[in-house]
Amino acid sequence: MPDRVIAGSDHAGLKLRAEAVRVAREEGFEVDDLGPFSGDSVDYPDYARQVGEAVASGRARFGLLVCGTGIGMSIAANKVKGVRAAHCGDEFEARMARAHNDANVLCLGERILGLGLGAAIVTAFFQQPFEGGRHQVRIDKISAMEK
Ligand code: RB5
Repeated sequence: MPDRVIAGSDHAGLKLRAEAVRVAREEGFEVDDLGPFSGDSVDYPDYARQVGEAVASGRARFGLLVCGTGIGMSIAANKVKGVRAAHCGDEFEARMARAHNDANVLCLGERILGLGLGAAIVTAFFQQPFEGGRHQVRIDKISAMEK
């Protein structure tokens, strides 16, 4: 069975979320897209919480969150224990977020990124495995802070 990705945005992230969902499907994931599906104003923590909880509980392997800057989503998602949300602005950051930090939620800013760069960041994030080893020791220390 394919791994599941869960996606959400606020009103400022609709277009890039749609593009990120398309890329996730192209990469072979089943995607639950939580919306929103209109441009009405919504509050990004509501979506960050739902996506974060789905990832932390294991219902989804990865989360995708988009807002205007990606900053609010990353702050909010990182409040959920077990979430390692990375706000990435280029492909290098996305690769490092997976390789070294085992990030499980990717946060993007639609008002900063074009759709092309946004899509490339999502591809880089999904294609890069976690390297484990010395990085796992550090992840374990982060997890210990949540106890
Ligand atoms: C919405 O105007 C905006 O504040 C939000 O999308 C995001 O950028 C917050 O971090």
